[in-house]
Amino acid sequence: MELVNMMTLLNEATDDHKAVAAINVSNMETIMGVMEASEKTGQSVIMQIAPVQLEAHGITYEQIVSMIKLFGKSYQIKTCIHLDHAMAIDDCFKAIDAGFTSVMYDGTLVDFETNMAHTKKVVDYAHGHGVTVEAELGKVGGSEASEDEDMGYKTRPEDVAVFVERTGVDCLAVAIGNAHGFYTLEPQLDFALLHAIKDVADIPLVLHGGTGISVADIQQAIQMGIRKVNFFTEIDRAYVKGFVEAYEENKKIYMMHASEKARQAMMQEIINKIGWMRP
Ligand code: 13P
Repeated sequence: MELVNMMTLLNEATDDHKAVAAINVSNMETIMGVMEASEKTGQSVIMQIAPVQLEAHGITYEQIVSMIKLFGKSYQIKTCIHLDHAMAIDDCFKAIDAGFTSVMYDGTLVDFETNMAHTKKVVDYAHGHGVTVEAELGKVGGSEASEDEDMGYKTRPEDVAVFVERTGVDCLAVAIGNAHGFYTLEPQLDFALLHAIKDVADIPLVLHGGTGISVADIQQAIQMGIRKVNFFTEIDRAYVKGFVEAYEENKKIYMMHASEKARQAMMQEIINKIGWMRP
């Protein structure tokens, strides 16, 4: 495994007019599922984990980095370890110190000026360590792996140029009608807004909430400048579904069958998504 920062992957994607799939990982099987999918397809995949996941799984920043590095020794892939949705800047600093090669500061719960000031602090520290920074403007609806009905609010193009210039951020997550988790209504991406944002932002753009968005819409977004697409809920469901099915099929040696089936199911779903990244 070659571990790089996220800009390396996003710059390559820009040159190739494609995007990189970013998948949330949290344990041995999910790490192996992403690595195997990446190696099989020959396409880089971003491995990401959010502070809420680390907490839920009871693992530390250092442990996840060590795990990825250890398993990475067996795969011919290029990847980065990205912190997804850190709401506290201290979590970004912890991740950088632990060896993450990219972090997202999510300032959507604070006002615009505070978001800018916090992002700048993270950028200064991250860039001193060769680490990439993603930020978010507007607010992507929903919440990680929850049934939350929060629909968020859209990115304002008039905020984008000043934010990018003052913070020096590397890439930007946009809110254009996308939401985390399963959509209750068919998602309607606002492509006119994406166009307006791209016009004022000369950096790679990120689409969160990939679950439930059609392949046609995702590919149109990629053609318009999206360079990273986040997928979690759908992949997470494939993993758990595989686990439960194995339990139903094999009423013995539970963990062995379930882990294998869950990993394979997750990997197939990731391979599917990787195929969408080249319009
Ligand atoms: P989904 O869970 O909707 O695929 O979104 C994932 C995501 O955006 C992680 O940041």
